[in-house]
Amino acid sequence: MCGIVGGIAQRNVVPILLEGLKRLEYRGYDSAGMAVIHNHEIYRKRELGKVKGLEALLQADPISGHIGIAHTRWATHGKPSTQNAHPHICRNKVTVVHNGIIENHEQLRSQQLERGYEFTSQTDTEVIVHQIYDALESTNDFVGAVKQAVAKLEGAYALGILSTGHPDTLVACRKGSPLVIGVGIGEYFIASDVAALLPVTQRFIFLEDGDIAAIGINDLVIYDKDDNIVSRPIKDSQLTAEAAEKGEYRHYMLKEIYEQPFAISQTLEGRFINNRLQENAFGFNAPDIFDNTKAILILACGTSYHAGLVARYWLEELARVPCSIEVASEFRYRNPVLAPDTLVVTISQSGETADTLAALQEAKKLGAKHSLTICNVPESSLVRESDLVLMTRAGPEIGVASTKAFTTQLVTLMLLVIAMGRRFQLSDIMEAKLTSELFALPGKIEKVLRLDNEIKVLSEQFADKEHALFLGRGTHYPIAMEGALKLKEISYIHAEAYPAGELKHGPLALIDADMPVITVAPNNSLLEKLKSNMQEVSARGGQLIVFMDETLSSSPDSNVQILKIPQVDNEISPIVYTVPLQLLSYHVAVLKGTDVDQPRNLAKSVTVE
Ligand code: G6P
Repeated sequence: MCGIVGGIAQRNVVPILLEGLKRLEYRGYDSAGMAVIHNHEIYRKRELGKVKGLEALLQADPISGHIGIAHTRWATHGKPSTQNAHPHICRNKVTVVHNGIIENHEQLRSQQLERGYEFTSQTDTEVIVHQIYDALESTNDFVGAVKQAVAKLEGAYALGILSTGHPDTLVACRKGSPLVIGVGIGEYFIASDVAALLPVTQRFIFLEDGDIAAIGINDLVIYDKDDNIVSRPIKDSQLTAEAAEKGEYRHYMLKEIYEQPFAISQTLEGRFINNRLQENAFGFNAPDIFDNTKAILILACGTSYHAGLVARYWLEELARVPCSIEVASEFRYRNPVLAPDTLVVTISQSGETADTLAALQEAKKLGAKHSLTICNVPESSLVRESDLVLMTRAGPEIGVASTKAFTTQLVTLMLLVIAMGRRFQLSDIMEAKLTSELFALPGKIEKVLRLDNEIKVLSEQFADKEHALFLGRGTHYPIAMEGALKLKEISYIHAEAYPAGELKHGPLALIDADMPVITVAPNNSLLEKLKSNMQEVSARGGQLIVFMDETLSSSPDSNVQILKIPQVDNEISPIVYTVPLQLLSYHVAVLKGTDVDQPRNLAKSVTVE
């Protein structure tokens, strides 16, 4: 949700900022822009569309400077346009890049209009740059002016700010939106995400909420929310610049689908000793917290919510732990009732999703004593705000459609099932079975990946379709939901998922030859029921595409296409059945020629409400 990068160095920062923007493009790609200060003047370039447009502009008409800020936008206030692209400038003196939403922007705008400020965009950001300029009218203290200005802002922001009157200082601050400082040798950078800066440094300072940093070429001063000068630790990132590159793959999404066996092995690595899950993997006080937990509440959004839905089936069915789950954006506003001793579990790839963060805060207000986050980004806000943390270790996920983050979330959730199940009704035998199923998972997924060509052929039937229905039962219903989400996200085909038993209560009316019905049909106790549901579709001339266990026999039927999935144990099967659905969506999108990694209107890290 908008990417920020900035820097101050002895060298020209423009190529570094440009590379940073490319690496941040997953956060938004409506427009991109950059500003540098050179000889006390602001030089700015902005372009509608992706970073490559800005790159072309910079090639045609280069700018350079030792200090600069840049931005890739995901439009909230004001349509994607060059005028609305960041950086925004006030009276050629102050320039700002912003991630987040300023909620009181209308009020500030009318005050500023009265004071004679002109607006050139429809963004909420422009009020920030005017506010800072205004404060600088009465002081020469750049940081002091930023402090005054941000005190007037309501909402969420991460900002990078330059002033022509202070050409040796980059000011950065954050509240509610992420921002890191990359520490180089004799140079500093800022970014929304470490991935942007990996080519120049692996050493990072994670700003905390309310921090304001004054960054000079050789000095850095950070003020906390109470205006105290604070020292924040420098942390070494384990990520390499290559981890966030596409390599030989045509798309990040495909690379990330293929990385799943490795990502899952990484997620399991070191978390078991002698085949026994070590509960301190969740945090040193995890055993005490789990001992005192009577129920679980899961809060998440998007794909992470689907992981939570699977976990609810697992926690109740396998471990007999009471579990509820809610979309974070609903939970946060409905004043819910929390059962005593509920452990609040948030699931998030980015750890920065605004609704999930707010839902966690709401749960705490409602009396939740303990929280656990399942997250893929160390040092993210959710990680910092949760008592217990279980990292998914999927590595950077760049494709907007989540793949390896989802399957590794499911793996970590299964670890939670084991840990909690020990206190409820998970038998030792079942624990041992789940453990061995988890370790067998990478091999099973390797086998499914070998079906890639078959799935590609299957996808040809979708390219001209406008709608698709996904069916599943039990733990495979959320997998059907995830399959439908993947298809709609990247191929723009309208797709819906239904629990197969609900078919007759409405969606059956939609069935005809133009509505493919994709069914997730593992060999489990619900199979016979599912077969009846498939008959209901077939009898009405519907086209079925069935992902089915290889051990099952099927009678030939021109309306039914079957893709046989390697045999897999029941409990872990939702993770395995996810993969062919990911590949299906991927190939349909490629055939349709959509932008697989950066589908229209979406962004990966949703740091606004
Ligand atoms: C966006 C992304 C999805 C993701 C969702 C939740 O919508 O495009 O892929 O599932 O946000 O994000 P989180 O980082 O909290 O998992």
